[in-house]
Amino acid sequence: MAGLGQIAPFILTYWQHFLALLLGYVLAEVFRSRSSNKPRKIEAISTDKTGIVREADIQCEPPSASTASEKQPTIKTSDAATEEEHPSPEEDAFDLESGKHIPYSIERYGEDEMKKRSQEFYLEMNKRRSVRYFSNEPVPLEVIENIVRTAGTSPSGAHTEPWTYVVVADPEMKAQIRDLIEDEERVNYEKRMGQKWVDDLKPIGTTWKKPYMTTVPYLIIVFKQVYGLTDSGHRKTHYYHEISTSISVGMLLLAIHHAGLVTLTSTPMNAGPRLRVLLERPANEKVVLLLPVGYPAENALVPDFKRKPLDEVMVLK
Ligand SMILES: Cc1cc2nc3c(=O)[nH]c(=O)nc-3n(C[C@H](O)[C@H](O)[C@H](O)COP(=O)(O)O)c2cc1C
Repeated sequence: MAGLGQIAPFILTYWQHFLALLLGYVLAEVFRSRSSNKPRKIEAISTDKTGIVREADIQCEPPSASTASEKQPTIKTSDAATEEEHPSPEEDAFDLESGKHIPYSIERYGEDEMKKRSQEFYLEMNKRRSVRYFSNEPVPLEVIENIVRTAGTSPSGAHTEPWTYVVVADPEMKAQIRDLIEDEERVNYEKRMGQKWVDDLKPIGTTWKKPYMTTVPYLIIVFKQVYGLTDSGHRKTHYYHEISTSISVGMLLLAIHHAGLVTLTSTPMNAGPRLRVLLERPANEKVVLLLPVGYPAENALVPDFKRKPLDEVMVLK
């Protein structure tokens, strides 16, 4: 009691400081417990300077019955999965609070059905060929619109959708494009490409002449948007615009084939800037490919190519 008697005047003098210390401690505890409830980024996942997740082998188990905002998906990396079979939601790599998320599900097939569907799709796609002889038979615009819609379902870096598909149906415009391309292709074949390249193309039979460009009902000129523009006119970064557009074109090719039409994936070498001006496209767009689309000519021929067998294109580890 004597001790208390000694410190009592001290407490009475400095009680405000003690109160401030106590309040500070309580606030710090509240803050710490709140932040430990927040989902943390898993360490095995790194992001590059664009903020894009780099880890390749992330497996996500989507939320089951509940919505994404109610329950966080669990996440496994190859390392984390061996350490802990069921990682807690605390180790979630996704911040679902930063954007609107909606539940997602797709049709689920039995294994036999899956094998059948994948085999049938492969057999259908294996019939796709690049065709250089076209019919002038008209094709409904609606079919082309659906094909381009399909290309637009492609994934893209940070969902920037950095592609523009210019569909040319006007005969006069097609003639202008053909003139322009043949103009450049003549110089390409005669001067720019070199003998080795020209020789490599001999089995395919291509020359600088492109008569199909004025035969086909449609020419589709694919532009990649090197950058985007915000409503206020500022530049918006288009991550991976080249590969995003290429994937989108892959989907376009499958859609063209699936509709019973043919095309030729062609690269209008050195004609890009002139094509952009002719088609009145803005400076942020660059020509990637030119695709004539229509029915094949009745007497169409294609090179007798074989595709590499699976064991040459797939490595199973
Ligand atoms: C990126 C790329 C560029 C191509 N450029 C041309 C081209 O300029 N002219 C052409 O006749 N074919 C071009 N092709 C078509 C290829 O020659 C053709 O895809 C290849 O010979 C395989 O034949 P397939 O498409 O019938 O399977 C190109 C294909 C790709 C993927």
